[in-house]
Amino acid sequence: PDSRFGRSLGWRAYATLLRTFHYIYYGLGHSQKLYPPTQLEYHHLSVAVDTMNSWMANACCLLWLVAAIGLTLYPSLTFAATDMVNYKHLNCDPSGKLPCPPLSTAPIVDFKPERSANRVRQPVHRLSRSYQEKYKLAVARMKALPASHPLSFTAQAAIHQAYCDGYYRYDDATAKNQTFDVHFSWIFAPWHRIYIYFYERALRELVGDDTFALPYWSWDAPEGMVIPPLFRDRSNNNSLYDPYRNKANLDKLVDLDYLSNARPVPIDFDGPKDENYTDAVNCNLCTVYDQQIRNGKGAVNFLGGVPNFTDTDNTDRSSSGTLEQMAHTAIHVWTGRAPNSTADNSTCAVEHDGSYNCRNDMGFLGSSGRDPLFYSHHANVDRLWHIWSTTLRGGNGFSNPAWLDASFVFFDGVRHPRRVRIKFRDVLDTRNLGYTYAAVADKPPFLSCNLTSLVPHGGGGGGGGKVAPTFPLTLKDGEVVEVPGVALPAAPPGPGQDRVLVIDRIEYDPTEENKFDVAINVPIESAAKVAPQYKEYVGCFAVVPSSVQSGGKMKGKVTLAIGDALADVAGNATTVDVVIVPRTPYEIKLYQAPTIRNTNMN
Ligand code: C2O
Repeated sequence: PDSRFGRSLGWRAYATLLRTFHYIYYGLGHSQKLYPPTQLEYHHLSVAVDTMNSWMANACCLLWLVAAIGLTLYPSLTFAATDMVNYKHLNCDPSGKLPCPPLSTAPIVDFKPERSANRVRQPVHRLSRSYQEKYKLAVARMKALPASHPLSFTAQAAIHQAYCDGYYRYDDATAKNQTFDVHFSWIFAPWHRIYIYFYERALRELVGDDTFALPYWSWDAPEGMVIPPLFRDRSNNNSLYDPYRNKANLDKLVDLDYLSNARPVPIDFDGPKDENYTDAVNCNLCTVYDQQIRNGKGAVNFLGGVPNFTDTDNTDRSSSGTLEQMAHTAIHVWTGRAPNSTADNSTCAVEHDGSYNCRNDMGFLGSSGRDPLFYSHHANVDRLWHIWSTTLRGGNGFSNPAWLDASFVFFDGVRHPRRVRIKFRDVLDTRNLGYTYAAVADKPPFLSCNLTSLVPHGGGGGGGGKVAPTFPLTLKDGEVVEVPGVALPAAPPGPGQDRVLVIDRIEYDPTEENKFDVAINVPIESAAKVAPQYKEYVGCFAVVPSSVQSGGKMKGKVTLAIGDALADVAGNATTVDVVIVPRTPYEIKLYQAPTIRNTNMN
């Protein structure tokens, strides 16, 4: 009796209708260019259709149909299974033109903390031979998965691109279709922790070794300050090799203050350990020291501010923390910058207008996930966050529920893909994710930074007859801007407070690398030498290039913790002279003068 209905014309029409709705919801709204529905999805669909052969099942089916119509009338309901940030739903590319992460009808489950933290992430430069081989094998197997598989290497790279090149959108009460980004705000650290965690899980499954953990590129330790040879080896189709890296820097000493005082000739990592070499190492150590300690005080300064990518002047813009802005950004640009790259189009990131951006992989946010080095780089960024919150007692981050409850849906499971909804509060302790880092108890090398004064300090800056520039102004490479006599708040910082220097309403072109340094009480003629190993340095504004988001220009802000620098170089002064040192040739406009205020360090 079942098959009678099953073969009737009515049923076939019904099934066709069903398929149509299925495609509307899982197909049409999204790009099919890179990710046609997977075999798995087709399979689910036909199984569903085949089993619709009883009255009971048809009743369910009818409900499905009603639900589908309901979703058509109220499209916002379809977002219910997606990411939530600031209590807003994110949706990947409503226009349907961009390569979004693969679609899936796989069930969504809530993340459950792992039972034991028995996996130890180790520095790449100390891996055993067999561990190195395992890492290569895991990535090779990931690269061998078809692009349509959500845990293929191609799909993993596309996930990063979608989340940083503005493919994700959200609607506000006032503005529709706003671009979303996982960089430049307090989303940066937890989102990337989650992203590489699922990458690591997939690698583990691919080599069938439950103890496998993602190795980190320890560029903060002198022995790790070079692209690890494991990633440079071209033999046997090494899966960790990527040809799209800056060839000039392959075996050179990394520069964590890259773009600022760029060395005319990069230093050989294996070259003589002369003064030039040790100064460069010290600059690297101090960059990490500043991002972790001096300028990394308090959650906002270290992790970044509340996300807001709205381009209106009456709202608070988001800011990156030192964790993102300093060594992390330098490593991207140092590894990937090659202005005259002539890579073929297939390795280029797709811009919003459909054109290609052909920088080397790591030098551009949209393409950086295509370099396997990215994941070991981010494991180190993650480790420095871990060290900040544990050994350095930076704390758990923010207590704001908008941060704690932000949630993202990630693919999990190579053999049986499912989707996992995970919240920021789930990942604040890495043990919940089953891993920890090797040697966290060792003394971190950055504590050996040798910090000195760039210039002698007498009575502190007083403005003394210097002319203040007028804002807005446009920064020009090579022209230092001095803002004399910036007032310190009259009241001393209260308990749990410190002083921050804020430069708001910075306008820049996001497709270029942009950077300026900020220092206090440095005479204009010495300002070009400002760098993290000097006590006068208070931080920088720096971004990794990404796609043009809405409108071409982007607006940003920096908040820099300056308490230590004030104590070192300003004595009891009531004002300081601020110098802004442009480091890149692209136009950066500053609409507002820097201000200094007391703020809670949470
Ligand atoms: Cu999402 Cu290092 O970038």
